Amino acid sequence: MPSKEEIKRRILELKKENNAIILAHNYQIPDIQDLADFLGDSLALAIKAKETEADVIVFCGVDFMAETAAILNPGKKVIIPDLSARCPLASMVDPDGLRKLKEKHPDAAVVSYVNTTAETKALSDYCCTSANAVKVVESIPEKKVIFTPDRNLGAYVQRFVKDKEIILWPGFCATHDRLTVEDFMELKRKHPDAEIMAHPECRPEVIDIADHVFSTGGMVKHAVDSDKREFIVGTEKEMAYRLRKECPDKVFYTIDKAICPTMKKITLEKLLRALETLSPVVTVPEDIAEKARIPIERMIAIGRGEKN
Ligand code: 13P
Repeated sequence: MPSKEEIKRRILELKKENNAIILAHNYQIPDIQDLADFLGDSLALAIKAKETEADVIVFCGVDFMAETAAILNPGKKVIIPDLSARCPLASMVDPDGLRKLKEKHPDAAVVSYVNTTAETKALSDYCCTSANAVKVVESIPEKKVIFTPDRNLGAYVQRFVKDKEIILWPGFCATHDRLTVEDFMELKRKHPDAEIMAHPECRPEVIDIADHVFSTGGMVKHAVDSDKREFIVGTEKEMAYRLRKECPDKVFYTIDKAICPTMKKITLEKLLRALETLSPVVTVPEDIAEKARIPIERMIAIGRGEKN
């Protein structure tokens, strides 16, 4: 059994030999975060995937992120260390149900969170992430929007976009949706000076008590820029590893149950195996990729919201 240090050394060697880039989401385990060439939120990762000149993209995250990279890079090899890292939220849209909803509301634009399958994206007009959902919905001409699949993110957008009707798909992220006001208040009672940062996938009553609502990238930016010293992190726990690295002089409190088991499927051993075998490869059928590329490119062109 090779040591952790040997595994890491071999990963770095193979990465170089294959002209590969490791892209990792902020919820990845610390060892993967440390090895990544680029660590970020969903929007930053999509932009990086579009820009990279590497021949191979190794995606340490969940399926829809790797699929997005594959859609944006038809000529490149995109691999994910564990194909079973499938985001449950992304599976909550059934394409036939979405087709029917579109028929019922022909005047609505479909805005889909990037946490969707390629097939759902192919049925959508725009994609968005938590870093630009408000900006995307604000910027489109249609007055009616079908928002899939995260009802909490859609309800958050509706708070800012008053002049549009938003039809919410009833999906949710189990990791964020299970966080309660009491989970936050318990930490707040122990650390009264701490600011609450919540992810917009949290329930509306959590959004009500948060001091700030940010994507994971927005949380990093805010923590770095803020004069505050203590923060309650209202998202997946591993986020605190990134925050502590960026702000070693600040304190971050997490909620124990805020764990995404799907993100944790990516391990150092699986990453090494993926680089040794250059598999499993993530592919999207070209007829679907062609349609899905349009809303993703629109999302990238709209860019990040002011403070998310
Ligand atoms: P962001 O990193 O884009 O905020 O998204 C978090 C998330 O839920 C990824 O699945």
